[in-house]
Amino acid sequence: MRFLDIIEKKKNKLTLSDEEIQFWIDGVTDGTIPDYQTSALLMAIVLNGMDDHETAKLAEAMMNSGHVMDLSSIGGIKADKHSTGGVGDKTSLALGAMVAACGLKVAKMSGRGLGHTGGTLDKLESIRGFNCFLTEDQFKIQVQEIGLAIIGQTGDLVPADKKLYALRDVTATVNSIPLIASSIMSKKLASGANTILLDVKYGEGAFMKTIEDAKILAQAMISIGKRLGRNTIAMITDMDQPLGNTIGNALEVQEAIETVRGKGPKDFTELCMRAGEIMLVQGQLASTKEEARRLLEEAVSSGRAFEKLAQMVQYQGGDLEQIKNTDLLPKAKYVTEIRSREAGYISRIHSMQLGILAMKLGAGRATKSDSINYAVGLKMAVKKGDKVEEGDLLCRVYHDGDLTQDWLEDMYRSFQYSDDKQEPIPIVEAILG
Ligand code: URA
Repeated sequence: MRFLDIIEKKKNKLTLSDEEIQFWIDGVTDGTIPDYQTSALLMAIVLNGMDDHETAKLAEAMMNSGHVMDLSSIGGIKADKHSTGGVGDKTSLALGAMVAACGLKVAKMSGRGLGHTGGTLDKLESIRGFNCFLTEDQFKIQVQEIGLAIIGQTGDLVPADKKLYALRDVTATVNSIPLIASSIMSKKLASGANTILLDVKYGEGAFMKTIEDAKILAQAMISIGKRLGRNTIAMITDMDQPLGNTIGNALEVQEAIETVRGKGPKDFTELCMRAGEIMLVQGQLASTKEEARRLLEEAVSSGRAFEKLAQMVQYQGGDLEQIKNTDLLPKAKYVTEIRSREAGYISRIHSMQLGILAMKLGAGRATKSDSINYAVGLKMAVKKGDKVEEGDLLCRVYHDGDLTQDWLEDMYRSFQYSDDKQEPIPIVEAILG
């Protein structure tokens, strides 16, 4: 097989065979296909697309490019969830504990934050001593024993994706539904869970800016999951404003704890409940969403969801005292209040901008090698649609250094106002699959 012919074929809008896709991914993994040829094929895929069968084959070949986790030694259905990322997205922390408290086995590999979006591992590491890097055996034992483990991706999982993603990043080929869908799903498939819930976010702070694009990406990922025998469902959820009230690692851990204790913000609680309903039905622990909702509410009100979170923290070496008393989590030196300069209904909250402002405080990384300040971040006091008067509190800033005038102006510009009443947007726009 000549790789040049494969590039020609996609350039001419033809469908690649399973063997051609396998040949490509084998060559990417063992380095026999040079980067310039792979880059050419990536661009042809960006321009001419892939059908559902090609996309699923690509995900499968990528999954098999490295180690595939075998969770069959753990009894019952193993569940995973994935968010396409956003601002203030601490869902895995609270949701994992809530569904595990209902008996679901949650085996989750998460990532770090980059740019304006946060990452679950960074949030967990704001708890002193928390270890995100268990061995595969430790991971499986923990899921078996307590039903919940959240760790970083193990070394040899989907090496083809690491190489392809690095090339896509520098060849303007990130933005392609088949490439994004196969990249995300290859990692989910290699993680070994039986059920996958995808939280595909849309809006300013998300990868997909519109509901329509989020639905197209979701359908592509569902199709891959189904073709490869995984029970896969997607939620399309709002990221046009930060999720919950907090942005920043320790602040988000605190909010996740409040949520599993039944005192979380309305939008975030609702997202966790809706996601939990789907996961419990997927995991055959409830036969209807209504039954699942009752189980979840009981797990929260009885304290079992909090206990499950505490148990995971304890198993992974984290400081339990910080979970029981969140005042012990990392604290910023200063708190500055941002107050409205106008009166009106909040018509827009620029979540991407707020994510960038939090990153500039030290809550996130501009480059992969940057270190994180766990204590800093933002606590929002308003949501889209709220009515404010001049001088009302918009947000509290938790910071360790001085806030520059430019930073403050960007903060004020993150809020837009309207004289007209704003319709609230639902946190869950649609459920697909
Ligand atoms: N996240 C991934 O893992 N892969 C992509 O291609 C885009 C987002």
